[in-house]
Amino acid sequence: MDHSNYAIDEMISAKSIAARVEALAKEITANYNDADKLVVVGLLRGSFVFIADLVRELKMPVEVDFLEVSSYGDAMTSSREVRILKDLRGEINGLDVLLVEDIVDTGHTMHHVQALLKSREPRSLEVCALLDKPSRREVEVDVRWIGFEIPDEFVVGYGIDYAQRNRNLPFIGKVRLSDPS
Ligand code: IMP
Ligand code: MG
Repeated sequence: MDHSNYAIDEMISAKSIAARVEALAKEITANYNDADKLVVVGLLRGSFVFIADLVRELKMPVEVDFLEVSSYGDAMTSSREVRILKDLRGEINGLDVLLVEDIVDTGHTMHHVQALLKSREPRSLEVCALLDKPSRREVEVDVRWIGFEIPDEFVVGYGIDYAQRNRNLPFIGKVRLSDPS
C-alpha cells in the first residue's frame, strides 16, 4: 500500500472509547476484588494508549509490565510463530495476570502469547482486547473482555498504527485508500 495515498474515516470516537474503557475497568475491578494485586501486561506497541487509560480506571493495586513480540508479517511465513523482542521485567508465577492487546485479528499472536505466559504458571491469566475482528479469526482464543467488535477493516489510532503512523490519533479510524486516479 502507498502510505501517502490514504484517508482516515472516524469509526469510534474518543468519547465512545473513554466510556467503554471506564465500563471495562469496572468489570475488571469487580472480577479481581479479592486479589492482592493485578499484573497488567501490555503487548507493545499497539496497546500503550489503551493500557494507560485502562489502568487509571482500575480501583485496585496494579503492576504494569510490557511484552513485545515480533509480528510474523503477512508474507512468506508459514509457521506464524512469534519471537520475544522484549520480555517481561517481572516474574508472573503465582500472580493474577491481565494481558492487554490492541486488536485480536486472526488470533495467532494471542494464541502464542497466551501459551507463553501460561507456561510461566500465573495464578490466573485473562485477556482484555480493545478491538476484536471475529470474522478474521483463524485460531480460537479466549478473550475475556473486549472493547469493541469491528468489521474486517484496517484501523488506526489510539495506539494502533499503519506503517508506524497514526498511533497518536485520539480516535479509532478506518483506513480508506484514496482513488489513485
Ligand atoms: P493477529 O495475530 O492476526 O490476531 O494480529 C494481531 C495484530 O495484528 C494486532 O495486535 C495488530 O498489531 C495487528 N493488526 C491487526 N489488525 C490491524 C489493524 O486493523 N490495524 C493495525 N494493526 C492491526
Ligand atoms: Mg499488536
